[in-house]
Amino acid sequence: MNFTGDAISLTSVTKIFQTGVIKRKLAVEDLTFTVPRGEVVGLLGANGSGKSTTIKMILGFLKATRGEILVCGHSAEERMARSFIGYLPENPRFQRFLTAHDVMKYFGKLLGMRGDTLERRIEYLLELVTLKHVTKERVHGFSKGMTQRLALAQALLNQPPLLIFDEPMSGLDPLGRKEIRTLITRIHDEMPESTMFFSTHILADVEQVCSSVILLKQGRLKRQCTLDELLSQSDQRFELLVRNASPSLEKKYLGSAESRMSAGGIQITVQGADALAARLFEIKTDGATVAGVDSQRKSLEDELFGDTSFTPPPGVGLNAEKTT
Ligand SMILES: Nc1ncnc2c1ncn2[C@@H]1O[C@H](COP(=O)(O)OP(=O)(O)O)[C@@H](O)[C@H]1O
Ligand SMILES: [Mg+2]
Repeated sequence: MNFTGDAISLTSVTKIFQTGVIKRKLAVEDLTFTVPRGEVVGLLGANGSGKSTTIKMILGFLKATRGEILVCGHSAEERMARSFIGYLPENPRFQRFLTAHDVMKYFGKLLGMRGDTLERRIEYLLELVTLKHVTKERVHGFSKGMTQRLALAQALLNQPPLLIFDEPMSGLDPLGRKEIRTLITRIHDEMPESTMFFSTHILADVEQVCSSVILLKQGRLKRQCTLDELLSQSDQRFELLVRNASPSLEKKYLGSAESRMSAGGIQITVQGADALAARLFEIKTDGATVAGVDSQRKSLEDELFGDTSFTPPPGVGLNAEKTT
């Protein structure tokens, strides 16, 4: 299935939901962006920022109130547009009594696939999503991550040139998230021509797999940029957990505002990669150990999701002094 031009293009797209006789909800406003062919593009935004609405309009499930949406050169409202898309819904569900193989066969047949071609495709895809060992097992015993991977395999059945996933990592544990991220990269390596477009509310998900990112805030386009541009503009913060520090190093750290004592050791906040390298050298020289490193892109997260730090009102926090 070939096409020229962008895989997805939105021009001034607005979606207003009629929520009552006179009440209306503006979910997406004047959205213009393109998803170039062959790229892995992330749609990043907080909950309620309009990601699912945008995806449903691209899929033709919802009609835009205003604006134009093209999918592989066809209007999203045409049936033809859908034939280019493999779609992974937010919460895929399958008939409980079917096996992984049954599910694939059922959907393959719906797509008009038959015989050996279908069998070979099923085998290849179940192997790709690392479900080969449970081919004959019923899906009702599958974990959320396995169900998600099966849905991914199903979306790939007829080799669609455009793959669209709505929050493919949502509700998964860290390992499950990692598996999906690895899989997205793997699918793109295997099919470099394919275009992938997926939504997420987690910055780390796009950092690891996307070449460019579309940032949504309250239904509006905040920015579309390459991952490099995005990362170079955001200052990265690291949280280090240090154990077995010598008394002198401990004194030095605990005397600074960026460090505090926690149950696991000394917790230090470091701003930027250079400062991190310097701290790690210092810790190694001291003979102390790094028990954990956590990275955050504070400025970007604040920009997209608002400041989420929570300060309890006076007198009710965990450290509040008892007044009685
Ligand atoms: N069918 C609907 N009717 C009314 N409002 C809706 C409907 N679907 C979504 N919304 C509203 O539109 C906004 C965007 O929702 P959604 O696209 O689901 O966001 P996201 O996927 O980014 O969490 C939200 O405020 C949501 O409540
Ligand atoms: Mg959503």
